[in-house]
Amino acid sequence: MKILGIESSCDETAAAVVENGTHILSNVVVSQIDIFAAYGGVIPEVAARSHLEAILPVVDKALKDANCTWDDIDAISVTHAPGLLGSLLVGTLTARTLAIMHNKPLYATHHLKSHIYANWLESESTPDFPLLAVVISGGHTQLIHMNSHNHFEIIGTTHDDAIGECFDKIAKILGLPYPGGPSIAKAAEKGDANKYRFPHPKVEGLDFSFSGLKTAVLRTVQKEVGLPISHPSSDLKNHITEAQICDFAASFQKTAVDILLEKVDLALAQYGDIKSIVFAGGVSANQALRDAAKARYGAPFFPEPKFSGDNGAMVAAACFFEIESGVEPTDPYKLNIYPRVEIA
Ligand code: KG4
Ligand code: ZN
Repeated sequence: MKILGIESSCDETAAAVVENGTHILSNVVVSQIDIFAAYGGVIPEVAARSHLEAILPVVDKALKDANCTWDDIDAISVTHAPGLLGSLLVGTLTARTLAIMHNKPLYATHHLKSHIYANWLESESTPDFPLLAVVISGGHTQLIHMNSHNHFEIIGTTHDDAIGECFDKIAKILGLPYPGGPSIAKAAEKGDANKYRFPHPKVEGLDFSFSGLKTAVLRTVQKEVGLPISHPSSDLKNHITEAQICDFAASFQKTAVDILLEKVDLALAQYGDIKSIVFAGGVSANQALRDAAKARYGAPFFPEPKFSGDNGAMVAAACFFEIESGVEPTDPYKLNIYPRVEIA
């Protein structure tokens, strides 16, 4: 079964053709990173307009690269939530129109589900159930228990910032370029991870909190450069040396990884049945996390780095396993990312 997956939830316009949920025939990603690097973050209105320009050429290229015509495509899947509303609308309306035009079944697929299924793409071995999915992205930090395909139980979540958001915000304080995650990871390579100690949040059970870590880094930078806590975070980059930036990046990254893995340990202790640990989402590209998780758990699953971030292949993979699990297509005329208002 060949599925065309379409993704436009944030700042990547992406489409891919995937066979039977694992084998990639094409994978096209057009990133808006260059546009938003100048602003230091995503501007939703600009993102939506960029998706609009890119989406049809991206879908065309995905079909061409896969050597497919519309006749070869068995279904279309599209990210419908969560994400930036304007960006999601471009993807969902495009997918809906294509499904109607080409008479294909349409599947609205949840973005976090897709991140998890990136681990099934082109990998030598696939995870066993029950599994623990650690979903770590720009908008989410969740521990999810899965007994079987397409069954998700959220057992832990963040009370405030997502871990990726924390990377992004701390990168801004340190004056590192957008997107913050890769910038922090790069600066951390030259830094001393034990230079600064940041507290771990006291959050009950399997839940997380990352806003306190962000504030702890901010206060330590202010103190280190001898400025008061009222000094604006946006100006600190003008007072900090490159060596200090690298030490802060390394120390923060180590703390974030430790906080995350402590909760993974707790989940493993609470759920004695876990056979695989599956990392998913943009932050799973982080090499320090990969190294620490491998040292701790042996052989956890990580997506190939090119599938950690947003892409269409993971959307198609998730859709394949939805179909295998008996999920029915979404009625294209009812696909609406806004709550439906029935008019009597
Ligand atoms: O999954 P994703 O591409 O988009 C969302 O669904 O949110 O995740 C984006 C997040 C951003 O916060 C970005 O800074 C972070 O993933 N990220 C990383 C790395 N690469 C991307 N964080 C840490 N280390 C990385 N190497
Ligand atoms: Zn994502």
